[in-house]
Amino acid sequence: MTDINLQEVHDFMIEIARKVGERITSATPTTGAAGSKKNSVDLVTETDQAVEKIISTSLREKYPDFSFMGEETYKPKDKLTGAPTFILDPIDGTTNFVHRHPYVAISLGLAINLTPTIGIVYNPFTQTLYSAIKGHGAYLTQYLLTPQNSPQKLPLYPPTPLETLNTCLVAVEWGSDRSGNDFAVKSNTFAKLAEAKEKDGGMVHGLRSLGSAALNLCAVASGDIDLYWEAGCWAWDVCAGWVILSEAGGLMVDANPGNWSPRVDERRYLAVRGGEGQKELVEEFWGLVQGRFEVGI
Ligand code: IPD
Repeated sequence: MTDINLQEVHDFMIEIARKVGERITSATPTTGAAGSKKNSVDLVTETDQAVEKIISTSLREKYPDFSFMGEETYKPKDKLTGAPTFILDPIDGTTNFVHRHPYVAISLGLAINLTPTIGIVYNPFTQTLYSAIKGHGAYLTQYLLTPQNSPQKLPLYPPTPLETLNTCLVAVEWGSDRSGNDFAVKSNTFAKLAEAKEKDGGMVHGLRSLGSAALNLCAVASGDIDLYWEAGCWAWDVCAGWVILSEAGGLMVDANPGNWSPRVDERRYLAVRGGEGQKELVEEFWGLVQGRFEVGI
C-alpha cells in the first residue's frame, strides 16, 4: 500500500467524475422511492444512488484493495480506518440538484491513514473541476472556458492578508437539522456574525449559503470566500475539498472553539482561506460562536 501511484489514482478519479457528470446533467431529478432520509429537507434522488453505484463499481474494479465509503450506502456501523479509502458524495448539493440550481458537485476524495490525500470536486453543469494531491498543489480546470483545458494553480491570485472578520465574506449552511441545540448554535451565531460592531457582532461583509459543502471549500481554496463554517456535514462532504483547501494554503479547524486539528469525520468544520493572519481570524471567529455543537461528539 505504500507504493500507491497517487497521480495515477488522481487521473482515474477525474476520468470517472467527468464521465459520470453527464449522467447528472442529463437526469430529471426524481426522488422516486428514496425521497428523503432523516427528514423532509434531507433529500436523496435516484440519480444520487445511480451515480454512487457507477463510481463505486469502477473504483472497486480498478482498486480492489482500497476501501470505499459513500453517502448513499453508508451505514452507522461503518467506521473510517487508516486503510486507503475512497470517500464519495455522488451529488453534493442534492437540494440544489432537485431545484435545478446548478451549484452541484461530485465530491470524491481518497484518505490514507485518515488524512485527506487526493481530492476531486467536479461541477458537471459548469464543467468546473477542482483537484489536488497532497503535497502537489491544487488546481482549477474550467473545461468550457480555458483553452486546451489547462489547469490553473490555486489560489488564482496571491492571497491578501486576512484582516478582521468585518472585512470577510463568510459561507455558512443551515444543514438539515432544524431544531435542538445545534440549530440554535447555528442560528444565533449567524446573527452574531452579521450584527453591528457596536453590539459586539462580527459585522461581516456578507453571509452566503450556497448549498454544497464541497464547492464551498473550493471557493475558500480559490480565495473568493474567506471562511466557511458548518457542523452536521459528513466526511464525504469535506474529504475532497479539504485536500484542495490545504494545497491552496487554506486551513481547516473545528467549528467548535479550541480544536485546531479536526478529524476528517469530525462533522464540524471551519475553513479559512490562505493568507497572513489565519490563526488570529480563527480566534476571532471562535469568539463569536454562540454555544457548542453536539454533533460528532
Ligand atoms: C449537503 C450539502 C450542504 C450541507 C449539508 C450536506 P448533500 O450535502 O453539502 O451544503 O449543508 O450538510 O449534507 O446532502 O447535498 O450531499
